[in-house]
Amino acid sequence: MRITALTIFPHIFDSFANESIIGRARRQGLIEFEAVDLRPYSDRKHKNTDDDPFGGGAGMVMLAQPVVDAMEALATPGCRRVYLSPRGQTFTQKKAEEYAGLDHLILLCGHYEGLDQRAIDLCVDEELSIGDYVLTGGETAAMVVLDAVSRLVPGVLGNDESPEDESFTSGLLEYPQYTRPREYRGLEVPEVLLNGNHAEILKWRRAQALRVTFERRPEMLASAQLTPKERAMIEGWRAE
Ligand code: ADE
Repeated sequence: MRITALTIFPHIFDSFANESIIGRARRQGLIEFEAVDLRPYSDRKHKNTDDDPFGGGAGMVMLAQPVVDAMEALATPGCRRVYLSPRGQTFTQKKAEEYAGLDHLILLCGHYEGLDQRAIDLCVDEELSIGDYVLTGGETAAMVVLDAVSRLVPGVLGNDESPEDESFTSGLLEYPQYTRPREYRGLEVPEVLLNGNHAEILKWRRAQALRVTFERRPEMLASAQLTPKERAMIEGWRAE
């Protein structure tokens, strides 16, 4: 899969795209990632990429021309052109799965007070936000998308990294994990994890995932796949 970030700060991506799992995936040829500098696409004498807003107001607006020209130069048939912006639809795991099925994803990183609407009208398929807060630019948001999408590309995660039970707790928050030592600062690992009874361990983990989801994100339970017994257990917690 190919992922292109269009940005006025391409070096922001350097360490992120070269280290850890993303770096390895690139070296293995599983992910092709490039951060493309928008500035050379500007037809202005000083290669500016922004100007004052028509109608007045604070801040600068990103020019349509360099964005549209860069998009036209980089787009491939069937690619998805995404503009990272706090005005977009919220990024979700489902979106990440959708993007992971594409051959080519282009992530346009905004700056200043926004992008000339005509660039959005001419060359953006969708606007995407990573959450209800405002960042200084779209680059960190693009890294979030790059990360979440890359790990879904087949082969990117090694066996040790891919949770075997992602489906087991799908739609729920993760159960707590423990590793050695058995006791740390007086805190013991739950006994059930030590006795080797796999069925008991699964049961405990599932109940823990349900409990933590109930406490922190109860709205997620509405769309989770639950057995009648589990629903009854949750009803019991609600009544408490
Ligand atoms: N640019 C600025 N804020 C953003 C956000 N929350 N998501 C995506 N892009 C952004």
